[in-house]
Order: sequence, then structure tokens, then C-alpha cells
Amino acid sequence: MRYYIWTVGCQMNVADSERIGRALQDRGLSEAPSAEQADVIVLNTCSVRQAAEDKAYGKVGSLRPLKLARPDLILAFGGCMVAEDTLPMLRRRLPYVDVFFPPSEPQALLDLVDQRMSERDPTIDTPSSDGCLAPTVTAASGAIVSPHRPFPVARWLPVMTGCNRRCTYCIVPFRRGREVSRPIPELVAEARRLVAEGAREVTLLGQIVDRYGRDLRPERRDLADLLEALSEIDGLVRIRFLTSHPRDFTDRILDAVARLPKVCEHINIPVQAGDDAILKAMWRGYTVDVYRRIVARIRERIPSCSIATDIIVGFPGETEEQFQRTLDLIEEIRFDVVHVAMYSPRPGTLAGDQMPDDVPRAVKKERLHRVEALQERISLEINQALIGTEQEILVEDEEHGKWKGRTRTNKLVFFSDPRNWLGKLAVVRIDRASPWSLQGTVVGGEEPGPARPRWQPLPVLNLARV
Ligand code: SAH
Ligand code: SF4
Ligand code: F3S
Repeated sequence: MRYYIWTVGCQMNVADSERIGRALQDRGLSEAPSAEQADVIVLNTCSVRQAAEDKAYGKVGSLRPLKLARPDLILAFGGCMVAEDTLPMLRRRLPYVDVFFPPSEPQALLDLVDQRMSERDPTIDTPSSDGCLAPTVTAASGAIVSPHRPFPVARWLPVMTGCNRRCTYCIVPFRRGREVSRPIPELVAEARRLVAEGAREVTLLGQIVDRYGRDLRPERRDLADLLEALSEIDGLVRIRFLTSHPRDFTDRILDAVARLPKVCEHINIPVQAGDDAILKAMWRGYTVDVYRRIVARIRERIPSCSIATDIIVGFPGETEEQFQRTLDLIEEIRFDVVHVAMYSPRPGTLAGDQMPDDVPRAVKKERLHRVEALQERISLEINQALIGTEQEILVEDEEHGKWKGRTRTNKLVFFSDPRNWLGKLAVVRIDRASPWSLQGTVVGGEEPGPARPRWQPLPVLNLARV
């Protein structure tokens, strides 16, 4: 049997999809190149904006004829669109879907696959269906001998689920529930397994990753403790984490980033808006000045640190003047990356239900473009300043005949070289810059392999952009 997974949403969903893929592979399924060639199709959905939901409805609708023509096909619909209160409506709207599952909980899907497999061949002994990653055999050389395709060099590691905050615009807490942290020993064991599979970098994921460990008992732990524990793992060369929140980013965490050599100098800390009244209406719990001071603290302690942020334009009531303050803040802080989105009312949230969505779509669009244009200029200036410097890159992939990796500060770098750099640290002199990436020449680093890899990395996931 073959499977196909389609994913939309944040890194948490990407990590969930990887886990689902692994659980299906453990049952002997292999990945199909397209949905049409699969026996199990999984759609992992997102609710953060209407556009994301529309994409999922479009995708599932496009698969309807296939499902009707092939009743034995398993069509699964899961992720953040699936919750207790949405399920009856989803069942009505999508009667041809075989199974629905909530975010991070694919058990119902795995049970159905197990059932279908034992119907096909009753002698099949299905694995315990806990949805976990199974250990993979590693050859003495360190090469991966998994029957499946090779694993990526950089992996996601969800360290907690849920969010205890209630930003007025955000659906995530309603779909992913309250915060639950995974214990440190469990995470260290999983990271070791990822390293045994070939990973050299992990990115720790949490909606507010700085709140990691607050719920752990008997001993409360924090992200700094976790970063420290993971730093001990041999073979792991880089550790990242996201997303930070201005209310929860502590000096202890900043100190851990500064002190621990494997932890990369990159902080993803959404500001959302540059105006205090808007921040208040969003229930973000800080003012622009508080945010400024956090950035100053980061830069004072780690001058090379890159900073990424998220911004929402067109929040209910946002005036041109208030929006201008967001532009001013972008100009003042000079973020390395800005993820900007137009406000999308989410039914069930406070803003969605009680604040009129009064900024016209055309105005939202125009504001979005103004943020993008400003940030494009700033990113270009920041990246151009790197020309002539040497950067350490962890090579993750090959794209269009070039090696692709990231700096410690999370900037994409491409370079050409006939040797095999996959998974290696390369020192690259930066020759050219665009707002989105850098190009360079390799001048040193670890010992590369002699030739290009035997296999071409396949897309792990079929990601739809929203
Ligand atoms: N937990 C993270 C991000 C969660 S959602 C955090 O707190 O930062 C990712 C981003 O989507 C948010 O940072 C926000 O910028 C955006 N977003 C969330 N809800 C939205 C909505 N209703 N409309 C537009 N953008 C939204
Ligand atoms: Fe949503 Fe706010 Fe929680 Fe982030 S902190 S997931 S934006 S409620
Ligand atoms: Fe992520 Fe979308 Fe869910 S942003 S947490 S997949 S609503």
C-alpha cells in the first residue's frame, strides 16, 4: 500500500505529518509520488486563516471523484480544522471522507489503516499503533540503512503542545488545547534517535516554546534546562527553537542561547503590531516599548543574533496612523525576517465573534504589500552587509544543482561544488545577496564526500502555502 500526505499550516503540522508518514512506513506503506497513486491520502489542515481552510476544502473537493471511483481508498482529513465543535459540520460537508482526526492525534487514521491491512491479509501482525517513530537501523559507517528514503539533516522536534494564552484573533488554543510539555528525558531520547537517523540539527517547536516545562511535575523545568540537556548529544551540531513570546522570553533563555555553542543565534519573536492600542485589543500582554527593550536586551547580549517576527495587518479598527506605527517599528528594529498576514476573522475567537472586521480587504492587501516592500529593502540591506564574510552553513539539501543550507542565523545560502556536502558543515564566503537568500563559494569546513549523493532527496511533504 502507498500513502500520500498533503500538509498546510505551521511547523507543528509539518512535524505531525512527518510523524504520520513514519508511522505509516512502520506499517510497511511507502510514499506515493501523487495522491492519484496512493491507497491512503492524508490531508493535514490548518485553521489559522480562512485562506488555509479554503485550501483544504479545495484539495479535499478535488479528491472527491477519486474517492468515489475507488471506494477502497482511505481518505483522511486531520489537523487543526478538526475539533469536537467542527466535526458534525465537517461530516455533513465531507461525507466521502473516511476518517477525521484532531491535530497531533492520528490514532483514528492508524487504526483504520491497521484494520484495512488485516482485512487484506489476516496474517499481518500490525505494530502497536502509538503513532511513534520507530528506531531505525544505522550501519557502522553511520550511513542510514533504513528501507525508506533518507531522513532530512534538519528535523523538527515538538517539545510541547497547546497554548495557554488567548490572543483575541487566534484559533490555535481552541484547536490545540492547553499546554502540555514532554519530559526532558523523553525529548533527549527522541533527539538521539533523530541523530542516529542522520539528523545534525533539531528545531524545538512549541506555540510559545519559552513556556516549555512550566507544567512539568514534580520538578518544574524550563527551555534553558532543555537546551542544556540536548547540547550534550554527540553528533547534534545545531539546536534552534520557535516560537518565542515577548511575555515569556526570559533572561535564562537568552543566557542559554549566548552560552551554549550548539544553540543558534536566531530568535523568532512575533510582535504582531506596532501600536499599543492594537496590541491591547489583541490581548498580547505587552506594549511596543516592552518589545523594544526585549530586542535591545537580545542585541546587547548577542550582537550577531538574527530576529524574525510575525505581523498582522488590518486587525479590527486598525487606522492608517496605527498601521504607520507598525511600519515605523519595522524600520526601527530592522528585523531579519517579517512574516506578515492579513487579519482573518476566526469564528469562536473573541475578535472573530465580537470585533467587526472593518478594515476593507483592499486596504488590508495594500498594507500587506507595504510591509512586504519595506521588509524586502531591509532584508536586502542586512544580507548585502554579509557579502565578503565567511559563514558556517549546515548543508541540508541540493536544489537546482546547488547545495543549500542555512547560517546559524537562519539565512539561506546556496553554493556550487562537485563534492558531496550533504549533512556537512561548510564554510562559505558570501558573494551575492538577495532579500531572501545568499550565494557564495565554499572555502572550508568539514571533509565533504567524494561525489554527489546516490539518491535525490524527495520532497518529504507536499506543502501548500497560505
Ligand atoms: N504561537 C505563535 C504563532 C501562532 S499562529 C505565536 O504566538 O506567535 C502564527 C501566526 O499567524 C501568528 O503569529 C499571527 O501573526 C498569525 N495569525 C494568527 N491568527 C491570525 C488571524 N486570525 N488572522 C491573521 N493572522 C493570524
Ligand atoms: Fe495564538 Fe497567541 Fe497562543 Fe500564539 S500565543 S498560539 S498567537 S493564542
Ligand atoms: Fe499551526 Fe495552523 Fe494549527 S498555524 S497550530 S496548523 S491552526
